[in-house]
Order: sequence, then C-alpha cells, then structure tokens
Amino acid sequence: MPISDYQLVEAWKQVLTLSRLEPGQTVTILTGAATHPQTLACALIATQSMGAVVNRLDLPPVNGEKALSRDALAHLGETPLTGNRAAIAALKASDLVLDLMTLLFSPEQHDILASGTKILLAVEPPEVMVRMTPTPDDRTRVLAAAKRIEASREMRVTSKAGTDLTCPMGEFPAIAEYGFVDEPGRWDHWPSGFTLTFPNEGGANGRIVIDRGDILLPQKSYCGEPIVLTVEAGYARKIEGGVDADLLREYMETFDDPEAYAISHIGWGLQKRAHWSTLGLYDREATLGMDARAFDGNFLFSLGPNNEGGGKRTTACHIDIPLRRCTVSLDGVDVVRDGRTVENEK
Ligand SMILES: [Fe+2]
Repeated sequence: MPISDYQLVEAWKQVLTLSRLEPGQTVTILTGAATHPQTLACALIATQSMGAVVNRLDLPPVNGEKALSRDALAHLGETPLTGNRAAIAALKASDLVLDLMTLLFSPEQHDILASGTKILLAVEPPEVMVRMTPTPDDRTRVLAAAKRIEASREMRVTSKAGTDLTCPMGEFPAIAEYGFVDEPGRWDHWPSGFTLTFPNEGGANGRIVIDRGDILLPQKSYCGEPIVLTVEAGYARKIEGGVDADLLREYMETFDDPEAYAISHIGWGLQKRAHWSTLGLYDREATLGMDARAFDGNFLFSLGPNNEGGGKRTTACHIDIPLRRCTVSLDGVDVVRDGRTVENEK
C-alpha cells in the first residue's frame, strides 16, 4: 500500500533528527534516473523544515551497458562520481548527503566520508522505509552486536542443512548498519539493521549450503534446491547443485573475475521489522531487498570485494546471500541459534 507524504516527511524528520541535523547545516540530496519521486519530495520538505541549506545534485547513470540487471548493487565499480571533481567538491562541502541514487562503495565515497561528510543511502520503496524507520533501540542492538564481533577472533556458522564455515576475524573492523548517521564521516543505509565484518584475507574455510528458501541477491529469488559452496582459503572454489547453482555460477562467470568468488562480508540481521517473506511480494526492480538482508537472525554473507571494509580486493561482482536457520557463534558463543538472535545471554 502507498503511504502518505505526511508519513514519509515525519519518517525523514525522525531519521534526520537521529542523524543530528542542525539548522544551518548543508544537505545535498543526490539523485539519479531511478530516484523515487515521493522519497525526493519528502526529503526536500523535511530537510527544509529543519532549517537546513538544501541542494539537489542529479547525476546521470553509469554501468547500465555492463550490468546484467537494473539492480543498483549488482554491478560495482565506476560511479557517476568517478573523475567528477565538481560533484565531489559539492558533496565534501556538505554536512550531510542523502543518497537517493545509490552511490555504492567507491574510492570517491571513501574520500567524501573522510572529509567528515555523512552519507545516508535511502532508495527502498517509501512504505518499506517508513515501516523500518530507524530508532535509537536499533542502534543499541546493532552496536552491541558489532562489539561482540570486535571482541572475537573467529566466526563459525553451522546449519542442519549442512553449512559449516569457519572464518578467522580481526583484520577488518566490525561495521554496524542501523539506519542513520549520527557521527561525522559515517555512512549508513535506511533501512537496515545488521552487523558485519570480513574474514581475514584468505582465511575462510568450510562449506556453505544455501538451502531451499534462502535468498540470492541481486537475483532476488528464493532458492528452490540446495546450492553447495566449497570454501577454501577465502574463496568459493566450487558451486554445486541443480538449476539454481547453474544460474548462480553462470551469472558469476560473466564477470570473468576470480575475485568475484571471494568470501566478502559476514554477519547477521537484527531488524525485527524486516521479514524473510517480503521479497516475494515485490517486483524485483521495485526493491533492493533490504528486508532480506536485515531480517532478524539471518546469517548474511557475501561474495565479492572487501574494499568496503578496508581490504584491497575489488570486483564488480557482488552477491549477497541471507541464510535462514543457521547458528552463528563467535569464539564458541552463539549470537544466532537456529536462525534466532541470541542476546543478553551469558
Ligand atoms: Fe553486500
């Protein structure tokens, strides 16, 4: 169902207040060919009503001829900011950038964040954003989970379906995505609600079974039959199964890049207002699939780059895979048990 402009303006105000927007600060709203008009209109009203100096910067799309789908996270690499000094200068001069375009992780984004500018990505359908308008409690839970990653040196993931993956950790920081940007230089994504890190370079080993009902992104499909990934020294060396495995393997082969097969981020969802079943209700092009990434208790892992965590590996290929019914343990202590988050347990 649609939501009213009033509801979305109020949601924006909540997010902007949590992001500590002050009167007189400069907000630049970054837009592109796929920006949702209601999201933009309501962002303009909310930022102006809070006394901000507001700009809109509209950039042309890139990569459309290379990407095999319209999903903004399916193809990483060059962005509309690559080589665009004027746009970068405008964004660096802003206190807050509302990214309604999907800038993606890129050297330019890191550069802008390093200048102290905050960036908030917001591209999901308006009703999804309103349902998952972030709260201080989201921040508390996600930060507590991130702290548990920071304090641990090994993540082990098991499932009755046959997953048994071991990832040494510590080389890369824990990242907390809770949906707003309350510190200078912070990037976040509304909606979200999960924590993640990256395995030590070359360190992930074991087996991942993507079971029936688990989700593949950007395919935005529920797996119909198990896919088995054999993980050795940080890379998925084999992708085996039936038609779903063939589809995943053939898609990844189109990138012709060995780095596509690296285990990228690993973590788990903590957002109770996100749901496993939601993806089945939407047209594929209507959503990025943040419900699928964030629903409480999923083990979310990725194949692809680790530069977003400070690593050196880049690749245009990026696959996110949320698994249900896993047990995730950190140094032997469960943080997710059979697909349910375990909190406040000694
Ligand atoms: Fe990802």
